[in-house]
Amino acid sequence: MSKTAELKIGDASYQLPLVEGTENETGIDIGSLRSESGLITLDPGFKNTGSTKSAITFLDGEKGILRYRGYSIEELAEKSTFIEVAYLLIYGELPTPEQLSAFQNDIKVHTLVHEDIKKILEGFPSNAHPMGVLSSLVTSLTAFYPESLDPNRSADKVNLSIIRILAKMPTFAAWAYKNEVGHPVNYPDNELDYCSNFLKMMFALPAEKYEVDPVIANALDKLLILHADHEQNCSTSTVRVVGSSQASLYASISAGINALWGPLHGGANSAVINMLENIKKDGGDTKKWMAKAKDKDDPFRLMGFGHRVYKNFDPRAKIIKKAADDVLAKLGVNDPVLDIAKGLEEVALNDEYFVERKLYPNVDFYSGIIYRALGIPVDMFTVMFALGRLPGWIAQWKEMRENHEPIGRPRQIYVGENLRPYKGVSER
Ligand code: ACO
Repeated sequence: MSKTAELKIGDASYQLPLVEGTENETGIDIGSLRSESGLITLDPGFKNTGSTKSAITFLDGEKGILRYRGYSIEELAEKSTFIEVAYLLIYGELPTPEQLSAFQNDIKVHTLVHEDIKKILEGFPSNAHPMGVLSSLVTSLTAFYPESLDPNRSADKVNLSIIRILAKMPTFAAWAYKNEVGHPVNYPDNELDYCSNFLKMMFALPAEKYEVDPVIANALDKLLILHADHEQNCSTSTVRVVGSSQASLYASISAGINALWGPLHGGANSAVINMLENIKKDGGDTKKWMAKAKDKDDPFRLMGFGHRVYKNFDPRAKIIKKAADDVLAKLGVNDPVLDIAKGLEEVALNDEYFVERKLYPNVDFYSGIIYRALGIPVDMFTVMFALGRLPGWIAQWKEMRENHEPIGRPRQIYVGENLRPYKGVSER
């Protein structure tokens, strides 16, 4: 007999089925609660609400475990490539050598974007934030590929939309940067791998020869793997909810980019560097800033610390901290904010406030330091995150579509005025 949970409200009792996942995660299915009792559940911020059953990413926040399709993030970061991980996330299995090569070639065929997209880019002022430019250019794909508006097309056609966005996103990301610095855009170089092509489009200048540094390309590839998916976070839930209305893949991904932008989510990577710079300018007194972070009357938060799900450690942060040391050493970069970051971490990990609340460094605490060492400007950090998260968003959108999930539409508890008679201005 399947297991149930019993909910008692006054004299009434309701049997609610339990749903168990492959890692023994258990949830109470409250689907019948409203029709049987008239009640809803209330959970602001969805802190304890499962929105879907998913086979993509497993995360155990207590044990600090993260796996894509059953493969540990540690192993993938060490041995795989971003393109292979993208394939794994989107199609469910690691590719054979033939599948990987076909996937890479398909992506290369579509890296170029329509020339008219340059006109859209030119319409942005140069101080436009690259995240806004990126999300707009992604939405513009709906105009250049109007057939993509219908997500109910055949699997092959949907796959073409998927390949196109994977291929064009590095071009958009690099062009968003070029717009910011007022330089001419570079076209994709299909001789290069995914990350090298992006780096060349981003940094090559017409008057100079540009050689991609393999240390930089490899470090970027690893960072993208670490960001590739993270189950039902804010931006991914946004992608799924927008897609659940049968909006197109491009519209859904563009919404995800905007959700990622905020400093409490992907925007934290820029916020961390700005915070570390401020601490440095202020004399580097980490204790003073820790006190500010703990003061409930002070809006300051220790950016890059804390996580909705990880309550032990963020496994991505562990890998990134080590990668930061390696990359800076390989590139011969000495960044004083790395020492400030390590000092802050040490103070926080031994501080009662942070220990009690289980606040640990998250993926964004050290990633900005690596991005900076790679020459990527602060405004572009969240764009890099979006580039990494793209395969996860696609996989989650695809899964939501293939599972025929219903439109996402939460309930609420209304706490406003009761019915009152309208009185026009003359009657008041
Ligand atoms: N600095 C100081 N205090 C913090 C911090 C922080 N970074 N994070 C949480 N807290 C405190 C809260 O004030 C709260 O204290 P209280 O119980 O006394 O009220 C308690 O810890 C719990 O925090 P919540 O905000 O309720 O936790 P929630 O799960 O809603 O938020 C979040 C998680 C948004 C990540 C939060 O920890 C935060 O704002 N961190 C800083 C921003 C950041 O680094 N975001 C990136 C997250 S990773 C990612 O999205 C890729």
